[in-house]
Amino acid sequence: MVTVTAAAPTVTGDERTLTPAQYEEWAAEVRRLADERGAVVLAHNYQVPEIQDVAHHTGDSLYLSRVAAQTDAREIVFCGVHFMAETAKILSPEKTVLLPDHDAGCSLADSITAEQLREWKAEHPGAVVVSYVNTTAAVKAETDVCCTSSNAADVVRSIPEDREILFCPDQFLGAHVKRVTGRENIRIWAGECHVHAGISPSDVRSQIAAHPDAEILVHPECGCTTSVLDLVSNGDLPAERTRVLSTGGMAEAAAATRAGQVLVATEVGILHQLRALNSGTQFIPMNDRAACRYMKMITPEKLLRTLQTGQGAIEVPDDVAARARRAVEAMIAIGEPGRGGE
Ligand code: 13P
Ligand code: SF4
Repeated sequence: MVTVTAAAPTVTGDERTLTPAQYEEWAAEVRRLADERGAVVLAHNYQVPEIQDVAHHTGDSLYLSRVAAQTDAREIVFCGVHFMAETAKILSPEKTVLLPDHDAGCSLADSITAEQLREWKAEHPGAVVVSYVNTTAAVKAETDVCCTSSNAADVVRSIPEDREILFCPDQFLGAHVKRVTGRENIRIWAGECHVHAGISPSDVRSQIAAHPDAEILVHPECGCTTSVLDLVSNGDLPAERTRVLSTGGMAEAAAATRAGQVLVATEVGILHQLRALNSGTQFIPMNDRAACRYMKMITPEKLLRTLQTGQGAIEVPDDVAARARRAVEAMIAIGEPGRGGE
């Protein structure tokens, strides 16, 4: 018997499900319903293009946390994954926070539980716990200070040198923070995001060989971060063309660059944002299969339904929220209110 294996479809990061006419009609209704409800629509940079375009604010995790903390809107409709909507609820407990699909989870947030963190803390009494925002509210409640990819190094630098640090859950971001801060007394949890871990050193080698003059933007959650920086230290990649950044930092770099080509190592949804910011540069995914199925669970149809029904409210128990809030607010107080990274 002959079996034929279909090639995986190429993901461009710019896939749309609505025609331009459908988009106009849908977007007008989304904005009308949002106004009627007193809602602000927030979208992460990995959302599908229509949702990035219709949102009142689109950006990285830190930027969206800041907007959620400061908005005057009665309601926040969060187009992103569960931990992001939960963080908005923690910061604005008096507001209704709606998530269009509660199954939009995160493999990184799933890589540590509150119980595991409590056990880890018990093994290292006195250590300061730094958790990435890609964690559940229960993990944040066990945390001293949260961080995102754009402020993780600043958060670690804010901790006295003599204190031991437990960093969780992302091993690649942890390794990067250790490298840029030079901190030795930092222990790193072995968690990872399945999408970013899958962007490998071999993807980097083949894409650099195919695009030798391209600039390179790498998200620190990527499995290839260390090997890219090793290529820089060996002199195989020019340092001025290679940067490790949050998705918001990538957007800033994309708007400013004059390069002909930029290789982008992160979830492919960001490419829509980068291309919208700079049409003179070609933005190429380092790995075109790096799509987050959780982020793509938020569809135009589900966003509209959420605004029509008001269903999908996120709840966080008061005691958990109060403890988690200290860690998130401690993070928000550190560093400049930018959309960038290190
Ligand atoms: P940032 O947008 O903060 O860089 O985070 C990336 C991410 O993986 C969110 O899920
Ligand atoms: Fe989580 Fe990775 Fe998806 Fe980001 S890309 S939401 S870290 S699974």
